Amino acid sequence: MFAADVLNSGMTFHTIIEPFRIHSVEPLRMTTEDQRRAAIRNAGHNLFNLHAEDVLIDLLTDSGTGAMSRDQWAGIQRGDESYAGSPSWFNFLDSVRDLFPFEHVIPTHQGRAAEKILFTAVGGTGKTVPNNTHFDTTRANVEYSGARAVDLVIAEGRDPRADHPFKGNMDLAALEAVLAAAAPGEVPLVMMTITNNSGGGQPVSMENLRATKEICARYGVPLFLDACRFAENAWFIRSREPGYADRDVRDIVREMASLADGMTMSAKKDPLGNIGGWLAMNDDALAAKCRTLLILTEGFPTYGGLAGRDLEALAQGLREATDHDYLRYRIRSTAYLGEALDKAGVPVVLPIGGHAVYLDAKSLLPHIDPLSYPGQALAVALYETGGVRGCEIGSVMFGRQPDGDEKPAAMELVRLAIPRRTYTQSHIDYVIEVCLRVAEGASGLRGLRIVDEPPALRHFTARFEPL
Ligand code: F0G
Repeated sequence: MFAADVLNSGMTFHTIIEPFRIHSVEPLRMTTEDQRRAAIRNAGHNLFNLHAEDVLIDLLTDSGTGAMSRDQWAGIQRGDESYAGSPSWFNFLDSVRDLFPFEHVIPTHQGRAAEKILFTAVGGTGKTVPNNTHFDTTRANVEYSGARAVDLVIAEGRDPRADHPFKGNMDLAALEAVLAAAAPGEVPLVMMTITNNSGGGQPVSMENLRATKEICARYGVPLFLDACRFAENAWFIRSREPGYADRDVRDIVREMASLADGMTMSAKKDPLGNIGGWLAMNDDALAAKCRTLLILTEGFPTYGGLAGRDLEALAQGLREATDHDYLRYRIRSTAYLGEALDKAGVPVVLPIGGHAVYLDAKSLLPHIDPLSYPGQALAVALYETGGVRGCEIGSVMFGRQPDGDEKPAAMELVRLAIPRRTYTQSHIDYVIEVCLRVAEGASGLRGLRIVDEPPALRHFTARFEPL
């Protein structure tokens, strides 16, 4: 189905099939364009306000929206709900440690809970946290603690059309400069987000990770991974970085982990869970502090924010996420969507990332002023035209400044995130058709204005009116 891939190793066919067949189905509700126009009007032209049943193909996020396998559902049945020391906890712990052999593993209900605990422990006023690019919740948790979050991705990572195999890489000179200028103790840790979600789902190379670790070690600062999409990142290393083509993805993941001192994880992404996360590290004193915070807000250290059955689903999900047939299909199927759009002349962030295709609304809708929200206009049009729900990542999300001022974001993107193992190739062919139909009528699209917005994180609840 997802045609022609040079990495279809060992097979003589060009077609890369979904490496699963369907065992349980969820019906999709067909709607007409008139019904969708009414639904989005009622939602104040904000896709987050829609009833999900009014969405045909939901590409809002790849977080928690994947399909679990037969063996994960079997794990759910085996889940042991003992408050302390459940066998499900030990199964989860073994599965995490097999890939990420950190001394301490602290289970949380999702990624941001791990971030909240970590930055409560190490953040605070006067502190600085460098990252290739902070994801929104990571930035929010760093800043909420009083610390400063700085993004240091390489220049190519900020240019939608720049061609580079590892656009998520850290700018090493910029990192060195921040660490050299910092007061002792000012930088509690450096983070590396793999893959770089906010930068287009772009990977980080092992070489860059190793060099980042060397700089951190020279300044005595620990390196933490924000590892939500670790398996996709490892697959990109295997396919693009010299010396890794014959390596097992699990070994590549272990090598990535060996370069870090700890990690945060949203298990709603690559670990194939509908909920879950963890925080891990080698530092005993930091772990003790984090476990105390865990007990305050999440739960006992052998379940954290999760039920025993969730721990079982994640233990199994981690094994499946590192399977080569799965990853070959996963990366190829995202590229299939992106390449079809690129070939047809629809502007997308290149190269295509691991979990999502990012449409460049600024290029597609040059007649819409950034502060009339071209990304939002495009996302609304995709929904009205074909019931496809994406997510604006532009001036709606980032435009409002802490001082109340509004200024355009660096890029006006619409992210089409692909839930794992959920949609088939014909669904994606339909998405391509919808995008092309919208692109053909692009010059007729109008911007929007905001009629109501909350003081923070406005993209979730703001209401709009077409201009
Ligand atoms: N870090 C990254 C890189 C993420 O992409 C996310 C979530 C988180 C941390 C937070 O994890 O949602 O489990 O609390 N990203 C989702 C998305 C929401 O749509 O990209 P969480």
